[in-house]
Amino acid sequence: MTASPDPSEAKRRAARAAVEAVEDGMVLGLGTGSTATFALKALAERVARGLRVQGIPTSERTAALARRLGIPLTSFAAHRWIDLTIDGADEVERGTLSLIKGRGGALLREKIVACASRRLIVIVDASKLVDRLGQRSALPVEIVPFGAEVTMERLGDAGGAPVLRMSDGVPFLSDGGHHLVDCDFGEIPDPSELDKRLHAIVGVIETGLFIGKASSVIVGTPGGLKVWHP
Ligand code: A5P
Repeated sequence: MTASPDPSEAKRRAARAAVEAVEDGMVLGLGTGSTATFALKALAERVARGLRVQGIPTSERTAALARRLGIPLTSFAAHRWIDLTIDGADEVERGTLSLIKGRGGALLREKIVACASRRLIVIVDASKLVDRLGQRSALPVEIVPFGAEVTMERLGDAGGAPVLRMSDGVPFLSDGGHHLVDCDFGEIPDPSELDKRLHAIVGVIETGLFIGKASSVIVGTPGGLKVWHP
């Protein structure tokens, strides 16, 4: 029996390739998750060699790591636009490069950062690739804690089989103080239509559907890299 390839190596390879696109003086969006962590470490090496950049983190976790690694941080108070964001994903749909994000609980900040970015490079290992969104993971939806029971019932009516995400026996709280609900819609034939339907439910703040946001996707594989453009 051959050992299955280590996904960490594929993630690291994709992350290092993405960081090569960073140029001196850029304002960067800093993603969240294990693949984005590899990118932060590669970026920190370049910063230590003299690269000047400023980062806007997509989570408190990423902010803390960036500080520890010596990556200067900034915020939207100083910059309305981000030159380049490098972030991971939970699913990437072949062909469209639509994404599901939010397993790491940072989807709202990730989407705000993605929407303010001139360029978004998504970094994944091949396990994240799907023919249809919804194939391998539930769709995270961020909701207001007040009335969560009602909002979840509406998500159920929409076909999402909602499950409230828990952490240490209590509902998970995002950096914004919201709940996360993981919704299993099965395969999602029309992500834009579903996104609109979910946004129409009062109490829903944001969904993990990232449609038309990726400028490119770098897929790390055991043998090398694949780069996809929409
Ligand atoms: C964070 O909220 C997510 O959107 C991450 O980008 C996603 O979970 C990818 O995580 P890994 O890089 O750890 O697989």
